[in-house]
Amino acid sequence: MLRSEWWRSAVIYQVYPRSFSDSNGDGLGDLPGITQRLPTIRNLGVDALWLSPFYTSPQKDAGYDVADYRDVDPRFGTLADFDALVAEAHRLDLRLIVDLVPNHTSDQHVWFQQALAAGEGSPERARYLFRDGAGPDGDTPPNNWESVFGGPAWTRVPRPDGTPGQWYLHLFDTSQPDLDWENPWVREQFHDILRFWLDRGVDGFRVDVAHGLIKKKGLPDYVAPKGGASMGGHASTPPYWAQPGVHEIYRAWRKVLDEYPGEQVLVAEAWVNPLSKLAQWVRPDEMDQAFNFDFLETAWDATAIRRVIRDSLAAFGKVGAPSTWVLSNHDVVRHATRLAITTDHVQGEGIGPKSPDKPNRVTGLRRARAATLLMLALPGSAYLYQGEELGLPEDVELPDSARQDPTWFRTNHERYGRDGCRVPIPWEALAPAFGFSPTGESWLPQPPEWAGYARDAQEGQPDSTLELYKAALALRAQHGLGLGDVDWLRGYPEDVIAFRNGNVIVIANVGTQIVTLPPGVIALSSEPVSANLPGETTVWLEAAQA
Ligand code: GLC
Repeated sequence: MLRSEWWRSAVIYQVYPRSFSDSNGDGLGDLPGITQRLPTIRNLGVDALWLSPFYTSPQKDAGYDVADYRDVDPRFGTLADFDALVAEAHRLDLRLIVDLVPNHTSDQHVWFQQALAAGEGSPERARYLFRDGAGPDGDTPPNNWESVFGGPAWTRVPRPDGTPGQWYLHLFDTSQPDLDWENPWVREQFHDILRFWLDRGVDGFRVDVAHGLIKKKGLPDYVAPKGGASMGGHASTPPYWAQPGVHEIYRAWRKVLDEYPGEQVLVAEAWVNPLSKLAQWVRPDEMDQAFNFDFLETAWDATAIRRVIRDSLAAFGKVGAPSTWVLSNHDVVRHATRLAITTDHVQGEGIGPKSPDKPNRVTGLRRARAATLLMLALPGSAYLYQGEELGLPEDVELPDSARQDPTWFRTNHERYGRDGCRVPIPWEALAPAFGFSPTGESWLPQPPEWAGYARDAQEGQPDSTLELYKAALALRAQHGLGLGDVDWLRGYPEDVIAFRNGNVIVIANVGTQIVTLPPGVIALSSEPVSANLPGETTVWLEAAQA
């Protein structure tokens, strides 16, 4: 069968279900809400959706704490609602990728509850990473690992008689015990979970913490760099990230996906450095794509951006995989804010009322539009996060009383965490909750000025960010940019990134000096100044046909 390899050039739109669209008015988005809005997303011009978790979950980490991998949480709907969503997506020619969370379960998952009940040394306990504590009374954690959300990565549980017993590992919240992926039983369970969703017609999986499943033998101590444990992406490799044993897991998953007709994909959320190492996740017999967090984390600096584009194309190209590009998601400060940050910023830290650096909103949006237009001109696959097409900033004034990210609680309010990028998005300027929810309820409060960002306020307005996204996505498809190449163009100042992709010339003026604007403009991120290309602006030009 001829394969289209649709994912090589796809633009994939991330839906964060709780903040997308609420059909029943309880203030939390849901699956029917997503289904209702699908035509609008189709209209934006994307190829696929990635849905963050909607499974049964106590929601201690916004659904990344799964209590049943084979059901929909009643807050989000039912399996029938999910089937309806898949059917509507496919009717609209949109592919649907779901989020799979294999590194840990919820502590409410029956596997963990059974492990607690079965006691030390049982096969049920061997599903997770239970260990005896250190010290004579075992009251010191088995090692010094820190949780990514702050605090120790171990929690002690009582024995059936109430005396203190073993400890279990949780790289994230206490409510998210890590599974032991050395255990074949665990591997089997996930093969069945993959099949469960493949049978329901999904087009692939975004794999959560895909660099974390295997821990170094003996669980040796590790001191995290300054700022505490993180998702990774720095020079030293902790004993819980990017261990070589993880790859055979995905090779086995690939075989499960290959049992099915069609072209289902595996996408790695792996915070691994350098790009050449990350590329190991997307070798031909493993996954198809890995999020390019190096690109996301690159500062607003032409030399750095050129370098990461070059390195990405080289590293992924070497293993025959497409590069991916991403600027925002539910774990990072939205790029319309992040690109204007002037101080050091660590992923997951967030920005809040007491942060010293309140990025300038005008600068942020201007740079974000330029960065997006640059990103959408690059060959490979691009990821968009709901609301970025509206130019939404991070909510940096979210009241502390509203916060829900475990990071905020586990760091004793030192790190704000990720709530600021998760505020429900505005659809209609004049409706309750800006159209997010019919009752006006919203699980995180929306800033009043978001009326100005509402989709209906931008629709048809030529200068709006929404229309810029629509135009760029249409041109990207029309010119086949996703399957093209980058031919660097010389003769531009250092602060200017210039390349040709097929018959489109892309000039990103990252600096502040005006440069000459050649003829043939087809897309532009900010208005020209006396017919020149101003600073912090990207332009696409149609090159004269040879
Ligand atoms: C991933 C998710 C993040 C979650 C974490 C633990 O990084 O994107 O939202 O908190 O994994 O599952």
